[in-house]
Amino acid sequence: MNGKKIPNEQIKQLLELADWAPTHANTEPWYFIVYAEPKTFCSEHAELYRDSTSAEDFMQFNYEKILHNGDKASHLIIAVMKRGHLPKIPALEEIAATACAVQNILLGATALGIASFWSTGGMVLNPAMKQFLNLNEEDIVMGVLYLGYSDSVLSGERIIPISEKVKWIG
Ligand SMILES: Cc1cc2nc3c(=O)[nH]c(=O)nc-3n(C[C@H](O)[C@H](O)[C@H](O)COP(=O)(O)O)c2cc1C
Repeated sequence: MNGKKIPNEQIKQLLELADWAPTHANTEPWYFIVYAEPKTFCSEHAELYRDSTSAEDFMQFNYEKILHNGDKASHLIIAVMKRGHLPKIPALEEIAATACAVQNILLGATALGIASFWSTGGMVLNPAMKQFLNLNEEDIVMGVLYLGYSDSVLSGERIIPISEKVKWIG
């Protein structure tokens, strides 16, 4: 990413798209925390790593990586599956619904020429992150979405042929 800023209005449009994910019983379990200044989250994230890591496991390299990995992003969105008041809906379905909401953001971003990266690195999946974000035990941090502009166009690749992932009957 090259540091160029995305208009906040476009980020709001992406969040509107996210809100149209499928949802069983309208629990609408997705919840997003938007950082319009990625450095704010990255320094909080790095401190969380320092505070939650024993001196013997702490690695300055990891600390710096977490601290600087949002330097060139425009916005960060933390995607959370927030359990609602309907425990009869299995957690799997709420995670799936939230992943769909995330995919809406990623597809919308691509359509707007915005680069995106979904990360669960650093402390993102650690219980300490959940606590830091004031989430409940049953909520799940699904990842951090880095959004920005890129000077290069990366072409994706698929290693496993689609035919191996489809069983077509009839
Ligand atoms: C749930 C999830 C978590 C991910 N976490 C990471 C991560 O922590 N670090 C990483 O390098 N890539 C991670 N990725 C992969 C990247 O987001 C991205 O999909 C990958 O680099 C391939 O990009 P492409 O499919 O656009 O080529 C994650 C992907 C998903 C779906």
